[in-house]
Amino acid sequence: MDIILLGPPGAGKGTQAERLVADRGMVQLSTGDMLRAAVKAGTEVGLKAKAVMDAGELVSDEIVSAIIGERLDQIDHATGVIFDGYPRTRAQAESLDTLLGDRGRKLDYVIELEVDEDALVERITGRFTCAVCGAGYHDKFKLPKVPGTCDVCGSHEFKRRPDDNAETVRTRMVEYRAKTAPILPIYEARGLVRRVDGMADIDHVTQAIEAILDGKA
Ligand code: AP5
Ligand code: MG
Ligand code: ZN
Repeated sequence: MDIILLGPPGAGKGTQAERLVADRGMVQLSTGDMLRAAVKAGTEVGLKAKAVMDAGELVSDEIVSAIIGERLDQIDHATGVIFDGYPRTRAQAESLDTLLGDRGRKLDYVIELEVDEDALVERITGRFTCAVCGAGYHDKFKLPKVPGTCDVCGSHEFKRRPDDNAETVRTRMVEYRAKTAPILPIYEARGLVRRVDGMADIDHVTQAIEAILDGKA
């Protein structure tokens, strides 16, 4: 089963993908995570992407579709993929169709996380992750069980994203509204879109998504 998690910055795409990976053995393909890894490694892609990401704008369609294609080649047929933060433009949606079709895969659902934009700034500015394993946390909504210690790997090192400040978040929202939300009708026309209340608490959002994947919603 291949799905897209769609929603504005801070909607909970990464949080929910992490759960589906743990619960269902699916693979998360987050272009944001891949680009951040490229920036960290100082690759050619990373050098091109850094300033664009720091400004909250979108990296070029060619770059992201190429990195998604490379990763898809490493995933076997039986393993389901969660696309997190991709596609984000019409051109990317078209590329994804080709990338999947060429590999004999198809999309099963596009799950839209519906959220109230006012809540997103608080979610994003409070977010932090484990510097070692990448597990996601929040200052208010999801603190580690033992303060200062990662629940997953026990590390004591955490980090915050450079684009997680109030000003850049506004640009990211504008980009979402202008370029990403308009791809929903493409998937609506194919009957693939399912909506989930992304303002519910994290566990309830997971339950709602699982119900969709199990054909119970
Ligand atoms: P990307 O990394 O994709 O960032 P984003 O879309 O802005 O989304 P976020 O990761 O900020 O939010 P999320 O929905 O994953 O929320 P999370 O689960 O963490 O992209 C970053 C940049 O890379 C882009 O701006 C662009 O420059 C570039 N890029 C990436 N992909 C690209 C592409 N395809 N094309 C072009 N450029 C691309 O949740 C947020 C916080 O809220 C967490 O702390 C979490 O604990 C908390 N939380 C989650 N759910 C809930 C809940 N239900 N209740 C309370 N708190 C919650
Ligand atoms: Mg994310
Ligand atoms: Zn960790």
